[in-house]
Amino acid sequence: MDIDWSKQHCGVKKAPFNEVIKLMPDLIPILESFPDDHLNFTWDIKVHMLMPRQYPCIPHWHCDNIPRENGIQRFEKSNPEFPMYLWISGAPLTQFRNGYIQPKKWVKFNQLDEHRGTAADDFCWRCFIRATDKNIYAPCDIPGYDFQRRHSQVYLDEDTYQW
Ligand SMILES: [Fe+2]
Repeated sequence: MDIDWSKQHCGVKKAPFNEVIKLMPDLIPILESFPDDHLNFTWDIKVHMLMPRQYPCIPHWHCDNIPRENGIQRFEKSNPEFPMYLWISGAPLTQFRNGYIQPKKWVKFNQLDEHRGTAADDFCWRCFIRATDKNIYAPCDIPGYDFQRRHSQVYLDEDTYQW
């Protein structure tokens, strides 16, 4: 079940489960351990190549998938009864208010669970999988939509980054 992430592409975005299987078949052993019904979820996967001090996700405390109106987050329109799950291959690990997640374990959370990204300590490859209940947002239904992720951004600390 150890995957060489350097051999994978950047991931998927807003994908239904069948597209995940089609675009990333190497991940099937991980997806088989998913503790809920795959078909009820929208899938986002990001593979990062990281250098020390780079963050693969938002470094400050935030919530995922809060509805926005004119760019403003409307927390009162979130649905915390619907689940999201995340899975991360290894460091750097996401920190929730009650602690760090463990690598290679599915973590159930909801739209109001605050968390933040942490920085890489070393040169590494990292995979992030997030499954979002379709009631929060559905897979993209635009005809011909490209579910393969072509880019993965990183976040930098302005004082300490290196390359
Ligand atoms: Fe997040």
